[in-house]
Amino acid sequence: MSQTYQRIVLASRPSGWVTADNFRLESLPIPTLEDGQILVRNHYLSLDPYMRGRMNDAKSYAQPQAIDATMVGGTVGEVVQSCNERFAVGDKVRGMLGWCEYGVSDGATLFKLDTTHIPLSAYLGPVGMPGMTAWYGYHKILEPKPGQTIVVSAASGAVGSVVGQLARFQGVRAIGLAGGSEKCRYVTEELGFDACVDYRQAHNPAELAALLHEVAPHGVDGHFENVGGDVLNGVMSLLNPFARVAICGLISDYNMQAGGVARSAIQNPHLFLVARFRMEGFIVSDHLELWPQGLKELAGYVAGRRLKYRESVAQGLEAAPEAFIGMLKGRNFGKQLVKLI
Ligand SMILES: NC(=O)c1ccc[n+]([C@@H]2O[C@H](COP(=O)([O-])OP(=O)(O)OC[C@H]3O[C@@H](n4cnc5c(N)ncnc54)[C@H](OP(=O)(O)O)[C@@H]3O)[C@@H](O)[C@H]2O)c1
Repeated sequence: MSQTYQRIVLASRPSGWVTADNFRLESLPIPTLEDGQILVRNHYLSLDPYMRGRMNDAKSYAQPQAIDATMVGGTVGEVVQSCNERFAVGDKVRGMLGWCEYGVSDGATLFKLDTTHIPLSAYLGPVGMPGMTAWYGYHKILEPKPGQTIVVSAASGAVGSVVGQLARFQGVRAIGLAGGSEKCRYVTEELGFDACVDYRQAHNPAELAALLHEVAPHGVDGHFENVGGDVLNGVMSLLNPFARVAICGLISDYNMQAGGVARSAIQNPHLFLVARFRMEGFIVSDHLELWPQGLKELAGYVAGRRLKYRESVAQGLEAAPEAFIGMLKGRNFGKQLVKLI
């Protein structure tokens, strides 16, 4: 085993768009374990939009990422040394070990994984945090009935792709929004959504609403929002009475300059009144008690090859910053991962 490992730390906070200069690659000696600790060699690192928010020194639901510390992030890998009786060398595990080749854990937030029927990387996607996010927002906020219509933005992505498929399993009409014809084709032909609109063809909320109206002539009963901006304002104008909107993410605002005007600012609050809809934001980590139930269901769908998913895999730790910036610009196609070995 190598005596050193590499990690990526936050070197500086971005102002507006993230750049590669905001990160620094470092080499460190592999630590010696203390009693109760486990050394994990990470195989895959998950890149997620929430990481952008933590790079700011701003009030949020989580502490900001510390400067000069390993970038936070979900990982899956293999136990290579253990001083903890609950974990043995060779165990496959999921943890939050961050952007690094090796990580040390005390086991409290390390989970053993069964890779017999589910690939290791899927535990960072459809059977991990993004899948659980889709499951929670769909079942606990949208709660659509068979025959109703829902809209899902960033529909080809890690979260959105699962939301639309859960809807189809229940006989709910699923309409995706995605950037470009290739992503839209994937959303309908591979994932089985009923329709998909390329939101880049619209230049304002009214144009987006017109495109969506063509595929949702009877309006929208539920909206799963991953993006915000013109998408949110456009979909709001099509909501049926007593519709539900799950605010999962507003990625179109994540790189705005401090003090700027959010693209997701609601343009017409009157719509709340006339359509009497409910809009609710959520953070999946607030609902840890539901994860065993949700992940078990998602694992069954993936193991049975019913739930489809796609991955964008960057090779090697040093590729993580560019892959992360690319994901924030929509260059990923499916769950963005970094393969470390
Ligand atoms: N609330 C929670 O607990 C929770 C948990 C996990 C994730 N989230 C949120 O869920 C959302 C999706 O996350 P994910 O991991 O599934 O990412 P993802 O969809 O796999 O990747 C991000 C996608 O967002 C789209 N996008 C980026 N900038 C955009 C813009 N300006 N306008 C419209 N679309 C844009 C791009 O797709 P297109 O090419 O199709 O535009 C891009 O591929 C994010 O907002 C994230 O913060 C929330």
